[in-house]
Amino acid sequence: MHQVRARIHLAALKHNLDEVKKMSPESRIVSVIKANAYGHGITEVARALQDSDAFAVARMDEALFLRQQGINKIIFLLEGVYEQDCYKLCEQYHLIPVVYCMEQFQWLQNYFAENNNSSLTYWLKLDTGMHRLGLQKTELNHLSDILQTLPDNRKPAGIMSHFACADEINNPFNQQQLELFEQLTVLPFKIQRSMANSAAIIAMPESHYDWVRPGIMLYGVSPFEDRVFKEAAGNSELELKHVMTLESELIAVKHLKKGDCIGYGSSWCCPQDMTIGVVGIGYGDGYPRHARPGTPVLMHKHRLPLVGRVSMDMITINLQALYQHGITPALGDRVILWGEGLLVEQVAQCSDTIAYELLCQITQRVTIEYE
Ligand SMILES: Cc1ncc(COP(=O)(O)O)c(C=O)c1O
Repeated sequence: MHQVRARIHLAALKHNLDEVKKMSPESRIVSVIKANAYGHGITEVARALQDSDAFAVARMDEALFLRQQGINKIIFLLEGVYEQDCYKLCEQYHLIPVVYCMEQFQWLQNYFAENNNSSLTYWLKLDTGMHRLGLQKTELNHLSDILQTLPDNRKPAGIMSHFACADEINNPFNQQQLELFEQLTVLPFKIQRSMANSAAIIAMPESHYDWVRPGIMLYGVSPFEDRVFKEAAGNSELELKHVMTLESELIAVKHLKKGDCIGYGSSWCCPQDMTIGVVGIGYGDGYPRHARPGTPVLMHKHRLPLVGRVSMDMITINLQALYQHGITPALGDRVILWGEGLLVEQVAQCSDTIAYELLCQITQRVTIEYE
């Protein structure tokens, strides 16, 4: 019935979590499953990653949805709360809000003042150079005077920050951020620390601290431009397995003449007589509209290039290589857009984007199947 499927290999997901454990054996793991677990389905991914120590999502509605689904592990709210009342929800649903600005801290103090018996725990987020969310150095200095006066159960349980350029292994800014984090987190009370996303887990063991926060590597995708982990991971044997295979099928075969042009804008014209396949997937399913001619798809284990523009429900591919291998394609034949045998990173490169975006933008029209 369904033409477009995303098959999710749960065993690969678990394998990738084990790889994180191998890379950071001294740290606890908070698996980042925001944005519907990077497009993989948040509930099923949370169930498959039960060996994590905690989960992290960006927003309250994601956390509440997980609770509704019966997920009872610790959940970090990476964007904290947007209004004071939401601390009540954090308390009720055992969520750990991250406090990244003075307003959030003040709301929290108000909340504690009104709720003496509260057992809410929270983390702080520091801005060490990303300049997005996080307390500035001066704000933290001011805050640490206040924090010292608070009873232990009102102090933050931990402190985190986020790298801006961790995917660029040799970027000196990574060390600068780390040094600032190290310097600012020397506080007169005990506090847990967290800094590393996937790229830093692989390439910067000195940034692992108490908790690591893997996202993209859990889904089997490299946070770097390529998958040569050996250099990044200091020769350790890291093997990530792709988790999502996106597939559709052939819905038409066209025999065209030299000079015939294909699709919207007639932007791609046949350099010779050729046979074109129409595949039932398009940007309405989340396949990138900007995929360039030449972007590979996989059919009968052969790489075939995209030709013409991506439409809402269809793409067109050059079938020539199949005939050259003695294969006659038929309607209904399976076409892999990424995953098994074809890296999503490569499709992203051909579409001037990153694999994160491709995975997250799978639309509801795609059936997700778990295996
Ligand atoms: C605060 C925070 N930590 C960790 C991650 C995980 O990053 P990655 O997917 O690169 O591992 C993210 C993702 O954007 C994040 O925002």
